[in-house]
Amino acid sequence: MRVIFLGPPGSGKGTQAKLLSERLSVPAISTGDMLRAAVKDETPLGLQAKAVMERGELVSDEIMIGLIRERIARADAVEGFLLDGFPRTPEQARALEKLLTGNGSGLTAVINLFVPEALLVERMLGRAAAEGRADDRMEAIHERLRVYREKTEPLIDFYRERGLLAEVNGVGEVSEVADRIDRALSQAGGPCGPPDAPQARVRGAA
Ligand code: AP5
Ligand code: MG
Repeated sequence: MRVIFLGPPGSGKGTQAKLLSERLSVPAISTGDMLRAAVKDETPLGLQAKAVMERGELVSDEIMIGLIRERIARADAVEGFLLDGFPRTPEQARALEKLLTGNGSGLTAVINLFVPEALLVERMLGRAAAEGRADDRMEAIHERLRVYREKTEPLIDFYRERGLLAEVNGVGEVSEVADRIDRALSQAGGPCGPPDAPQARVRGAA
């Protein structure tokens, strides 16, 4: 099971990837969490990424592709993984495709969580109050949404063309969204669907 969570900031990628990771026993790999850990530990990567992240911009493709190449090669990712926050640009998506082709193992599905923008902002401001994440300030939120539209949204068509896209409504209780994701994945051949179901059936699910 190799699943990408696509969707704008605040759409629930991290929340849902963590839950699905428990259901499937495969790691949820969050590039945002990896970078935040590096910032906290003041590693060379963290020192480089801190200001970029606080402005709501993207860390370079080169760094992110290197990070993911190393992470998905680790033993715990052999049986599968969930990606939260990667890929985020067409260059990252093409690099991932090459990495996986090299491994002889393709993607199972790409879950695109859609949530209206006003609700995204409300969720991020809610988290700012609860957790104080450095990029959940109004200015950075607007920049993250702008960068998402410019750099990441084109990936929706990229994966739709490959028959991998599952559009999932991200509005509602966390458990309702999780159920929709399960239904979308079952049409892609897992976790509760036939293992040999053609991937093209994912299109338009849930
Ligand atoms: P990243 O950490 O990936 O942040 P993001 O994409 O902006 O997304 P968020 O974490 O804000 O939202 P989410 O979709 O995960 O939603 P969540 O579940 O948290 O990236 C941060 C930065 O790192 C980037 O800006 C960039 O600088 C850098 N970076 C990371 N990856 C990169 C890459 N590949 N390339 C370049 N740069 C990269 O939920 C949001 C909130 O809503 C939470 O409080 C949650 O509790 C709540 N919530 C979730 N679901 C629901 C629900 N159903 N109902 C009500 N509330 C909900
Ligand atoms: Mg997140």
